[in-house]
Amino acid sequence: KGKSKEYWVCTDCGHTEAKWWGACNACKTFGTLKPFVVKEGMDGGKVSGFEVSENAMKSWLPEQNARQGGPVRLADVNRGVNPSEWRIQLNGTFGGEFSRVSGGGVVPGSLILVGGDPGVGKSTLLLQIAALIAESPDNSKSAPVVYISGEESIEQIGNRADRLSINAEDLFLYSSTDVEDILKKVSLLCPRAVVIDSVQTIYLQGVTGSPGGMSQLKECTAALLRFSKKTGIPVLLIGHVNKIGDIAGPRVLEHIVDTVLYMEGEKHSTYRLLRSVKNRFGSTDELGVFEMAESGLQAVLNPSEMFMSEEHSESDHLAGLAVAVIIDGSRTFLIEVQALCVADSIGKHLNGVSTSRADMIISVLKKQAGLKMQDCVIILFTTTLVLHAVAPSVFLNVVSGVSLTETAGDLAVAAAICSRHVFFFLLAHLSHQIFWHLERNYVASLLEFPLPNNVAFIGEIGLGGELRMVSRIEKRVTALAKLGYKTCIVPKSAEKAIAALGFEGLQVVGCKNLKEVIDKVF
Ligand code: TYD
Ligand code: MG
Repeated sequence: KGKSKEYWVCTDCGHTEAKWWGACNACKTFGTLKPFVVKEGMDGGKVSGFEVSENAMKSWLPEQNARQGGPVRLADVNRGVNPSEWRIQLNGTFGGEFSRVSGGGVVPGSLILVGGDPGVGKSTLLLQIAALIAESPDNSKSAPVVYISGEESIEQIGNRADRLSINAEDLFLYSSTDVEDILKKVSLLCPRAVVIDSVQTIYLQGVTGSPGGMSQLKECTAALLRFSKKTGIPVLLIGHVNKIGDIAGPRVLEHIVDTVLYMEGEKHSTYRLLRSVKNRFGSTDELGVFEMAESGLQAVLNPSEMFMSEEHSESDHLAGLAVAVIIDGSRTFLIEVQALCVADSIGKHLNGVSTSRADMIISVLKKQAGLKMQDCVIILFTTTLVLHAVAPSVFLNVVSGVSLTETAGDLAVAAAICSRHVFFFLLAHLSHQIFWHLERNYVASLLEFPLPNNVAFIGEIGLGGELRMVSRIEKRVTALAKLGYKTCIVPKSAEKAIAALGFEGLQVVGCKNLKEVIDKVF
């Protein structure tokens, strides 16, 4: 007794090593291995040797096996069970949104981790969910739900519930940080669900380290998992993740729990996104969209346009701004890509667009559109022309802080740059020759090419400047038609199929490559 064993656990991926290494052998990240001490007895001790007794032989009979918790034949497992019946269904639009993200309702006996930055609204979300589960009992059974907080007192949670106008009769509040105490008290109530706020504040007696430390996080979560599996009571666990996501906790916990939901949102925005990143009981590509209000979170039912800035009207033309259509989960979103090209500063500044993708698009543009601009210069000024190698820095920004991960947004990025850039090489050069007394960027901004407000761009760009087909293009175009867009630029190969769908008022323009896009739009 009293002997302890030391492991090294990667704080990024949860990989365990017996020895310290410079980098994690699993995910190859440097410096992420942290020591993790296990006291003997903590990991359940040694497994004793197996003996096949005569009794055990008999239990190979399927019915007996099932009763004793042994392996069960597949056909016996699924017989007569309707998944939507055993999941806890949540009512209303708010509940529906949460259900969708969690894969169709809360699964009894599952452990769900809800992660997110401090202050993003996790406590609020789960208090509302707890109330909802308590309010919708099936078969009029009473359905207590326990909300446990290690961060706030019962009075504070009560105040919050008041603000959210929650008065579910069967919602129980409890303030504690001792896991054993929590599970004991919870078992007495036999609730329909348990919420624990947060994993960083709870601790298990007999485990080394302070609450929030690696060993406590792992052991507490494992204990909660055993509890939920044994009792069938679902546990919703809150976990704080900081901005870089490098906190030891939730990353390691992802491997233990059944479902991981992340709550995201910008500080200044009232929208909150709930994303499923792991789900043992459903798909992970659903995205929930909520809006924050005084009275709590509300589901946003038509979020297509939520990422658009609203200031401009129908007839506005905006330079350096192009609309892309992306699909996240089963939802379509319109997003705005902004570009700015400045001659005086160097490099790229990207926000929401990946560096490699932006590099590629800019290079293809230089190759494809750059040549064209050179021709212009020569026609206009046949005098001493040595084109300066001007490498203006490009700023790219995706409005509202979402990131553009789909290649379907390539064309919008290119269009945004073009609308700033088409005459840029020309202008930068001219300014040396003729307008040298003017501010270069000022001249450039006079001649940039604004894009009409009701044009959208869909397409992936290949290295030869060709436009490639993207997935689910009909769905994207349908969303545009619904929102009253007038023109949509798509890859040539998609033009016919979309035209056949016959969208009224939406002109679908197919283009083979970037040159064609520039000819047709600018
Ligand atoms: P909170 O739920 O406490 O965040 P977390 O548990 O993730 O740290 O929410 C942070 C603050 O935002 C809190 O003061 C309440 C407020 N808030 C609202 O007023 N309305 C809302 O819809 C949400 C989600 C939060
Ligand atoms: Mg909180």
